[in-house]
Amino acid sequence: MPTIHYILKDGSTRSVEAKPGASVMETAIRHNIRGIDAECGGSCSCATCHVYVLESDLPRLTPPDEMEDELLDGTASARAPNSRLSCQITVTAGLDGLTVRVPETQV
Ligand code: FES
Repeated sequence: MPTIHYILKDGSTRSVEAKPGASVMETAIRHNIRGIDAECGGSCSCATCHVYVLESDLPRLTPPDEMEDELLDGTASARAPNSRLSCQITVTAGLDGLTVRVPETQV
């Protein structure tokens, strides 16, 4: 199973095995990763699943669609070029080793 690395607010890293087909947000919730709230449950309407993707991992992701792009303008922590909504990133074998950083705040 692919491993996803989450860098937490305290600087520590949690590495968890993710089920292919699940989102990076769902994987975080399943493993009690703190700092990813996901208030809308993954329907791309809350922006509380915001993460910063490791720059070197960005080429492995498909770019955000229009809806995600719009929501990223409303994140609680400042949007950066590597900002993504973790509910919109589906885990695949090709994403093994993906690293995302949890933002300072989601609300
Ligand atoms: S969980 Fe709400 S936008 Fe991702």
